[in-house]
Formats: sequence, C-alpha cells, structure tokens
Amino acid sequence: MATIYYTGSSLDGFLATPDHDLSWLTSRDIDPEGPMHYDGFVRDVGALVMGATTYQWVLDHLDEELGGQWPYEQPTWVLTHRDFGRPPGDVTFTDAPVADVHRAAREAAGERNVWLVGGGDLVGQFFDAQLLDEVWVQFAPVTLGAGAPLLPRRVELELLEVARNRDFVCARYAVATDGGG
Ligand SMILES: NC(=O)c1ccc[n+]([C@@H]2O[C@H](COP(=O)([O-])OP(=O)(O)OC[C@H]3O[C@@H](n4cnc5c(N)ncnc54)[C@H](OP(=O)(O)O)[C@@H]3O)[C@@H](O)[C@H]2O)c1
Repeated sequence: MATIYYTGSSLDGFLATPDHDLSWLTSRDIDPEGPMHYDGFVRDVGALVMGATTYQWVLDHLDEELGGQWPYEQPTWVLTHRDFGRPPGDVTFTDAPVADVHRAAREAAGERNVWLVGGGDLVGQFFDAQLLDEVWVQFAPVTLGAGAPLLPRRVELELLEVARNRDFVCARYAVATDGGG
C-alpha cells in the first residue's frame, strides 16, 4: 500500500495545456496490456484524491470520452472550495488539511494504493506533508511550452523502473527518503 502520483505528462513537464486540453495525451498510442498501463495500475487502487480543476475536466468529458459514466469505482476525494452540487459517483468534496484527507483515503483503500490524480500542486501539498511515496509518469512525445505543471516542487526521486509503451516513455520513481543526491 502506497500513495502514488500516476499521470501522463508532456516531455517538458506539463499535465495539460493552459486551457486544460489533454488531446495531445489522449490521442497517443499506448498498449493497454503494456508496461505501467492504466488498467493494471488502477486494479491496485483503493481510493483517489484529485483537485477541483481535474474533477471539472472529468465532468466535462463524461459523455464525450468516458461513455457518460463516472469512471472510478473507488471512493474519491476532491479538494475544493467550490460547490459542485451532487456528484456522479462516490465523491467526497473537502477542504480539510491534506493529512486528514490522506487518512480517510488510506482507511478506505485498505491494502490497496491511494492514487493522487493531480494536479501538480495538490501532489506537492502531499509531498510537503511527507505523504507521497511514488511517482509514475508516462511521458508523451511532445512539448507544450506552458500549462499545468507536473509537480511544482523540488522533489528528489529514485528511478525504480523505466519502460517504453509504444508512444510513451514510462518511468516509476520512489520519493527519496534521504533527500536524494
Ligand atoms: N496529464 C494527466 O494525466 C492529468 C492528470 C491530472 C490532471 N490533469 C489536468 O491538469 C490540470 C490540473 O489543473 P490544476 O493545476 O488547476 O490542479 P487541480 O489540483 O486539478 O485543481 C486545483 C484546484 O483544486 C483546489 N484545491 C487544491 N488544493 C486544495 C486544498 N488543499 N484545499 C482545497 N482546495 C484545493 C483549488 O480549487 P478551488 O479552491 O477553486 O476549489 C485549486 O485551484 C487540469 O486541466 C487537469 O485536467 C492532467
């Protein structure tokens, strides 16, 4: 059981364009059975945490890209100060301290992992609270020049695994516990 930031990124470290477009990512070729692919990752996830912009993106793409269904069966915490109204799935809105949110997500996840979906600063807040264990990134073959940052902190990492999955370079890192090199 770990707390993992799993995400796709541009080569220059952006999660989305400045207008929150992800087509540069979702249009790429990836083997659904290949290294570090989503299906295998999500089977071991017991709870999710995401920020308000990411939640809004999922809402905006429910019909078009997600078949009209809330895509997660696991309980999800959305950090926000906004009133989103009734959620389409098992979603808890909160502005509690990240340590409290983590405790609740951890408890719900049981033996499985907690997935920090993003964005980058939200993950940074978990890192600041020493609650981030691993970072898994699929780098798409594109630079965006600007957008939502991958992880706007200095975080020392240990490279655990690297693989190619068709268009993507997939890398798995542990957050260094000794401050890194
Ligand atoms: N490439 C990928 O695989 C991937 C993965 C994840 C996200 N994304 C995209 O990347 C972009 C990320 O957007 P973003 O950088 O704005 O990040 P975000 O984390 O999705 O949203 C940030 C917002 O979350 C709320 N929030 C964050 N921390 C909070 C806290 N401690 N307490 C209460 N509310 C808190 C705040 O909104 P309010 O105060 O307004 O409520 C904040 O403005 C989105 O376009 C998303 O779709 C892409």
